[in-house]
Amino acid sequence: MKLSTWVPLLLAAVVFRFMVHTSYASFTPVDNYLIACGSSQSVTFEGRTFVPDSGLSSVVLKGQGNSVPATTNSSVPYPIHRSIRIFPRTASYKFEIKQEGRHWVRLHFFPFPNAGQNLTKAPITVVTENFVLLNNSTFKNYNGSYLFKEYAINVTSDTLTLTFIPSNGSVAFVNAIEVVSIPDKLFPDQALALSPSAAFNGLSEHALETVYRLNMGGPLLTAQNDTLGRMWENDRKYLHVNSSAVNVSVDPASINYQVEVTPETAPNFVYATAEAMANANVANLNFNITWVFRVNPNFTYFVRAHFCDVVSKSLNTLVFNFFINSNIAMASFDISSTTGGLRVPFYKDFVSNSSADSDTLTVSVGPDPVADIPNAIMNGLEIVKISNEARSLDGLSSVESLLPKSPSKINKTAIIIGSVVAVFAVMTFMGLCYCFLVARRSKTTHQGHPWLPLPLYGNSQTMTKMSTTSQKSGTASCISLASTNLGRFFMFQEILDATNKFDESLLLGVGGFGRVYKGTLEDGTKVAVKRGNPRSEQGLAEFRTEIEMLSKLRHRHLVSLIGYCDERSEMILVYEFMANGPLRSHLYGTDLPPLSWKQRLEICIGAARGLHYLHTGAAQSIIHRDVKTTNILLDDNFVAKVADFGLSKTGPALDQTHVSTAVKGSFGYLDPEYFRRQQLTEKSDVYSFGVVLMEVLCTRPALNPVLPREQVNIAEWAMSWQKKGMLDQIMDANLVGKVNPASLKKFGETAEKCLAEHGVDRPSMGDVLWNLEYALQLEETSSALMEPDENSTNHIQGIQLTPLEPFDNSVSMIDGVNSCTDDDAEDAATSAVFSQLVNPRGR
Ligand SMILES: *[C@@H]1O[C@H](CO)[C@@H](O)[C@H](O)[C@H]1NC(C)=O
Ligand SMILES: *[C@@H]1O[C@H](CO)[C@@H](O)[C@H](O)[C@H]1NC(C)=O
Ligand SMILES: *[C@@H]1O[C@H](CO)[C@@H](O)[C@H](O)[C@H]1NC(C)=O
Repeated sequence: MKLSTWVPLLLAAVVFRFMVHTSYASFTPVDNYLIACGSSQSVTFEGRTFVPDSGLSSVVLKGQGNSVPATTNSSVPYPIHRSIRIFPRTASYKFEIKQEGRHWVRLHFFPFPNAGQNLTKAPITVVTENFVLLNNSTFKNYNGSYLFKEYAINVTSDTLTLTFIPSNGSVAFVNAIEVVSIPDKLFPDQALALSPSAAFNGLSEHALETVYRLNMGGPLLTAQNDTLGRMWENDRKYLHVNSSAVNVSVDPASINYQVEVTPETAPNFVYATAEAMANANVANLNFNITWVFRVNPNFTYFVRAHFCDVVSKSLNTLVFNFFINSNIAMASFDISSTTGGLRVPFYKDFVSNSSADSDTLTVSVGPDPVADIPNAIMNGLEIVKISNEARSLDGLSSVESLLPKSPSKINKTAIIIGSVVAVFAVMTFMGLCYCFLVARRSKTTHQGHPWLPLPLYGNSQTMTKMSTTSQKSGTASCISLASTNLGRFFMFQEILDATNKFDESLLLGVGGFGRVYKGTLEDGTKVAVKRGNPRSEQGLAEFRTEIEMLSKLRHRHLVSLIGYCDERSEMILVYEFMANGPLRSHLYGTDLPPLSWKQRLEICIGAARGLHYLHTGAAQSIIHRDVKTTNILLDDNFVAKVADFGLSKTGPALDQTHVSTAVKGSFGYLDPEYFRRQQLTEKSDVYSFGVVLMEVLCTRPALNPVLPREQVNIAEWAMSWQKKGMLDQIMDANLVGKVNPASLKKFGETAEKCLAEHGVDRPSMGDVLWNLEYALQLEETSSALMEPDENSTNHIQGIQLTPLEPFDNSVSMIDGVNSCTDDDAEDAATSAVFSQLVNPRGR
């Protein structure tokens, strides 16, 4: 690239970073009340100044409140506990609110020993206009402790009133109050509920109470360390097994916030520390780190989990599972591929109804079988109580039942009842309309689940007929695959029968989308059944992509879809069964016999052909984006087929050169140019395929962090040997002496070109394909001639050039495999290879 193009790019990058940094430089709360109740002077606590409640015009105390200062000799936990306001009758603080939206309401209670009465027995009730915060709460087992409560209340008018209600002939009291604006974005309106799995909407209608906020593996953080004045507690005392976790930490300054996550989400101190598995690398994949929290089973909780990869040395090595109670909340969570980097903070929100009979909420992380290095971490956790139907955070009484009724209130109630009736009537009417519409639509369309992107490519008619017949008849109506893109509809019962009720012994693999089982259909056909995890949003998106892609594609070297099942909210895809599993398991990590060089070449050729078809076969080119040895599957004849289109993207339109996209894929295979520029082209797949070629030759993982630094990344390491022309020094020991050197040379050169730094310098998949076929031909010729090969060019003369004649659309002139669906031949690649075969010294 020329300097002239670099400069604006660099400038843009600098400006962008600057903007990102300044945009979250600081949040200044519009409303910011810090009140020391009953105090005659300001009090400084944790770097913030609390002012007396009597001197502010924007805070009005209504009702009687006796102020009592602590005597100087009484010890108080914190300076803000040095004064108190005691209410013998109902009284309230009314705060002027300049900006509507969520506000922290923080209440500090410390029952003075010298207040003239026993405050530890005083039942405290606190309500806002709309919500009950505390209801008859007392210091039960009082041992000199204080009470701190934090709420997040959405204030929707220009005032907020906190009312303190004494009961049982006792008094109410409070020591300090904070009412502070919260950035709107901090709490979402929606989160993912886990049991049952569904979106939980309308969080903004609820009051929230922080019950736990933890800085995993790190120290207590107070208001001083948090731009929103929050407190983050260490997690150790909640660990189920203390020895299960170890603290890890990095320099907090190295935390690299990306746009959606800011220091307001959580301070860098939270992300810089974590609990990790005490014994990472343990073979036992059932291991997990679990935290146990006491909760009220009558409430639903909002759970925010904070993650930041502070343990990995390289990307894509930390993949783990995250559970809330026993529900899987994130399966095969690949933290760095989600965030795009190490030390990049990430959080995710969930809603958990603790199971009715349990008063604990548990949170666990555990290693995932797909990870190269088993480990699991957690950096921070927030557990927040959600107000119930009575608009209460404490018990079942509503504000109306707790506040003494005034005449105006009764009028208000009448209005409310009136509006509720009206709203109900309107909603009923709308509901009826909706039902009517749905009933009508269901006559004409398939009643599937929203994840199924129907209608697809004009085949919805076929689809509809097919699914209704099979649903009605109750039998598996076998529909010709040609007639419909989505294949056959399976009933859930059929899937259960085929997989022996998802028998774990039939498990073939686990991925981000869920699990894959081996199955046998009624007619004996073996299939692979991919059962989506309906709780995984990532899974949902990938499923959708997979269906969209596979419904457009048919090719001998792409794994084909037989059908699907969407009954009972399931997301199940049924594929042809690939008896010999992933290519990777034939290379290393298993006891399977090593593949011969010829087999390896044939497999690479098959996969290259599949990718070539993806890039050129369909109307719009398709970029796989996740080419790796685990996504190349082998059937019972070792025919290679490309699988897993979950990350695929349609390629650039004709007038564009690339697709801009967030970087996804698997590290070790990721095109460095794509990573840098986030511009996706077919050449990114070519790069990944180059990594696959090196892996096939050297039989080691693409990334192996255990090795010395220069060897960690196969692409770099193998390239350095290839450049020296000594690739044979690092190839699989099983191949030594069994490979035609010319074939190996061709193979090495092909891989080298694929791994070129810049996409433009890489060959097309068509070129790669033909180069590999050439390497195969060199190998076959040498073994056919049974002569030692000193000079590759000598053999070229011996190659039968006759099969090259029919340069038509039947690709497979060399290995003789000619599948009817192969329409990947007509392209320009042929000419390149032609010249190469005719003039072998040309390259
Ligand atoms: C507060 O409530 C109003 C009205 O229900 C809503 O429009 C707004 O989005 C809410 N704000 C937040 C921050 O939840
Ligand atoms: C965590 O590990 C314990 C003991 O090994 C096991 O009983 C429990 O089911 C595991 N929890 C999860 C969520 O995997
Ligand atoms: C939950 O609600 C029931 C009544 O519905 C009540 O008896 C019980 O004490 C409540 N549990 C807690 C922990 O508050």
